[in-house]
Amino acid sequence: MSAELADLLLARERRPIEPVRLPEPLPLAAVPTPALLVDRAAMERNLRRMAEHMQQAGCGLRPHAKMHKTPLIARRQLELGALGICCAKVSEAEMMRAAGIEQILITSPVASVDKMARVVALAATSAAVWVVVDDAGRARMLDEVARSAGIRLGVLVDLDPRMGRTGIALGEPALELVRVIAGCSHLQFIGLQQYAGHLMHLDDAAERARRARETAALGLETRSLIEVDGHEVAVFTGGGTGTFDVDSTIAGMTDIQAGSYVFMDEEYATIGQGNRARFDYFEVALFVLVTAISQPRSGAVTVDGGYKSFASDSVAPVAHGIEGLRYHFAGDEHGVLQLLGDAPQIELGDRIRMVTPHCDPTINLHDWMVVVEEDGLVHELWPVAARGCSW
Ligand SMILES: Cc1ncc(COP(=O)(O)O)c(C=O)c1O
Repeated sequence: MSAELADLLLARERRPIEPVRLPEPLPLAAVPTPALLVDRAAMERNLRRMAEHMQQAGCGLRPHAKMHKTPLIARRQLELGALGICCAKVSEAEMMRAAGIEQILITSPVASVDKMARVVALAATSAAVWVVVDDAGRARMLDEVARSAGIRLGVLVDLDPRMGRTGIALGEPALELVRVIAGCSHLQFIGLQQYAGHLMHLDDAAERARRARETAALGLETRSLIEVDGHEVAVFTGGGTGTFDVDSTIAGMTDIQAGSYVFMDEEYATIGQGNRARFDYFEVALFVLVTAISQPRSGAVTVDGGYKSFASDSVAPVAHGIEGLRYHFAGDEHGVLQLLGDAPQIELGDRIRMVTPHCDPTINLHDWMVVVEEDGLVHELWPVAARGCSW
């Protein structure tokens, strides 16, 4: 990919970053649907709750911005004490950097010289832009790219917690990679990343906690091996919303990469947490507002949000605070709400707040967050500036 093509794809200068204040506050009835709604007060409570938890636990927070893709929210996370943010992709990191954010960890390895050049160009503007590596050959390529740019790039070794997505095998292979990095004049070894995504949504909280501890212990053994070999491991980062309470108590983990806690979603809300049947330590603060637009048959009503408004990789969206409605996808632009026995009457034109199935890919479908304040009115729109930044 040429630099020109990348710049064209990113279209940075045409993407708004700052909030847009409405001239007059808008009632929800006047918001065009489907709309991605943020309950600002609930979001703020989630942000503070996590910040306070981490402070009490004595662990750092490096929230994953892949979830919200919104620099405004990343800035708020930093204001509340986050060490930095994570980005999944180079283009996402570029948008966050364009918004003035300096501490960025790119949590996926990069394998081509063009992307390495973009990472290095970002790191030239902030020494706190880091990237993970999981392969010795790519580490040497990255070293070469950093050398030509005349900078020293901070890298973390990505460990595979036997999940099979990215990362190098634990133990000796990881140590060998650290040695290669230590021998690269333009790379600086910062530490380790181990993200156990396969554990995040395990239903049984006790089982999830047990496996999170076991997995962390394996990563920390590798950490010791590396330290005994004489390398300083300043950062050991990983974990997510599903295991934040466990990971944050593990000695040796420096920070947690949770993302979804800001908004939550149906996938997370329905798993157990601690001794509770539902995961409600964080509130659902994100919805898609839809409108009932048609009723071709009794017992169901069609709403104006389908695959283009909701992620469809997991569970179905759920009506918020209304019993007796069951959502079914009915195409790109439509969903059908089946009206069960205890369902209230739904009239055409009625608006329904739906809890999103999976927040990250749902947000990526929308250009704007419609921000609802405690007075029930919309005062601001927030641009999802890194929406579509998937390369
Ligand atoms: C590398 C990495 N870290 C952290 C997270 C955050 O996870 P969650 O949204 O479950 O908190 C993700 C999410 O997929 C991830 O891929």
